[in-house]
Amino acid sequence: MPTSTATPPTDGLAGAPGGPATVAALVEAATRALAGACAERKGPLPARTPRQVADAVREALGPLDGAAPAGPGHTIAADVLTRLTRALAAGAADPAHPRCAAHLHCPPLAVAVAADTVASVLNQSLDSWDQAPAATAMETQVVAELADLVGYRGEHAGGVVTSGGTESNLTALLLARDHALTASPGLDASRHGVARAAGGARPRILCGKVAHFSVQRSAALLGLGEDAVVTVDVDSQHRMRPAALREALLRLRADGDLPVAVVATAGTTDLGGIDPLGAIAHIAREFGVWLHVDAAYGGGLLFSRRLRGLLAGLERADSVSMDLHKLGWQPVAAGILLTRERALFAPLSRSVDYLNPTDDEEAGYPSLLGYSLRTTRRADVFKIAVTLRALGTDGLGRLVDLCRDLALRTAAHVVGEPRLVLAASPSLTTVVFRYDAGEHSDTVNARLRRRLLREGRAVVGRTQIEDRVWLKLTLLNPDTTPDDTASLLAEIVAAGDAEAAALKETR
Ligand SMILES: Cc1ncc(COP(=O)(O)O)c(C=O)c1O
Repeated sequence: MPTSTATPPTDGLAGAPGGPATVAALVEAATRALAGACAERKGPLPARTPRQVADAVREALGPLDGAAPAGPGHTIAADVLTRLTRALAAGAADPAHPRCAAHLHCPPLAVAVAADTVASVLNQSLDSWDQAPAATAMETQVVAELADLVGYRGEHAGGVVTSGGTESNLTALLLARDHALTASPGLDASRHGVARAAGGARPRILCGKVAHFSVQRSAALLGLGEDAVVTVDVDSQHRMRPAALREALLRLRADGDLPVAVVATAGTTDLGGIDPLGAIAHIAREFGVWLHVDAAYGGGLLFSRRLRGLLAGLERADSVSMDLHKLGWQPVAAGILLTRERALFAPLSRSVDYLNPTDDEEAGYPSLLGYSLRTTRRADVFKIAVTLRALGTDGLGRLVDLCRDLALRTAAHVVGEPRLVLAASPSLTTVVFRYDAGEHSDTVNARLRRRLLREGRAVVGRTQIEDRVWLKLTLLNPDTTPDDTASLLAEIVAAGDAEAAALKETR
């Protein structure tokens, strides 16, 4: 066997002998830089304008291929890593800070972050068994466990780790589209195009009025067009009204349209509304339509013994999206798509000569290629597997309970503050409210949020309900206390008072 005695061209490969030690030294340098930069930032985000942030980043990056830094490779790497870590952290929005509460953007668990580093070092790719033997087996097993948790029969269920709710919803709707659009045997939309497979019928997707925008985007990407999405009325908690769904399906039937899927939401992005899944499953079955549940946000309730009952009926869905980078405390990305039956993934099935030739599969080498829209795919399952073992489902459930209790306590504070108005009592872990400035409320709420950003004091969410501007706290930090959110609300009120006064002065 030829061996090379030449010096390797780089001493920097993570997987080389000594590579893990190099990674450890670099990670140690980076964590030291992180600690310094976070202390320097002082708050949940930098007190800088977007232009100041961009200038600071430009300065830290320096010119590409500028003056070559001197010294051995690993010293240069540590210096650059330290400099750019400082720049990134100094300019970061910190989801672990109690006053960073705008989005479904969780503070990740340390154990999951460490596991993610291992996934990067090993750099497995799940598009073929020979790039990821153990990771392939691990994803298969963890997906079956999560399917069991949904209430599917894990050994029959299908599933895949995705980049998040957007990819999960797109994939599910592709499967639903191909399931529904079979005007003649042998025709399918993936192969023959939507128009031929639909045979003249107009494909339609139904979802609640406040379903995630990725439903419309998926419809566009799947060749159905955004107009193919029929939105169904919701109640004051943003839950789909089953009677309105039935009416919409009857209308489609009368018009000769073809319903491809009903998308229910378990945890709407703003109010956390959970559609009545049992009633919707019943209607979907009656009309013979695929039911997809977007549980990207609410899926984490499955971990909580106290709260999982809120998802009753989820097990009757054909497919379910859930994101463990929301109520699962994983670093991005940790999306999951599950199907009741593995065979429902058939439209994505592919035999590719260089990845999963049929004779390899027949010889017992499994491949996950046919579950994903992606080809190269990192082992995001590893951090999920480690977290599930380290905390157990009960451990994750306790974090879910803490966040939900915090939301209820925070909503009670809102109700007790005369200058704030609560939109609805929390269904999950968001609290939606606004500063009451009478007829100027929209302007004042929009401005107070930007004031808090500009001053680096808080990251508060903003949304629109019935054409009015509302503020939102998305509480995903189990270490945040009711006192923390009370002081955040006090900051919001003070910023609202300042903006209301400033507005009065200019009038
Ligand atoms: C209900 C819902 N579905 C889907 C998504 C999209 O998830 P991702 O950002 O992971 O793609 C979100 C994001 O907030 C969401 O709230």
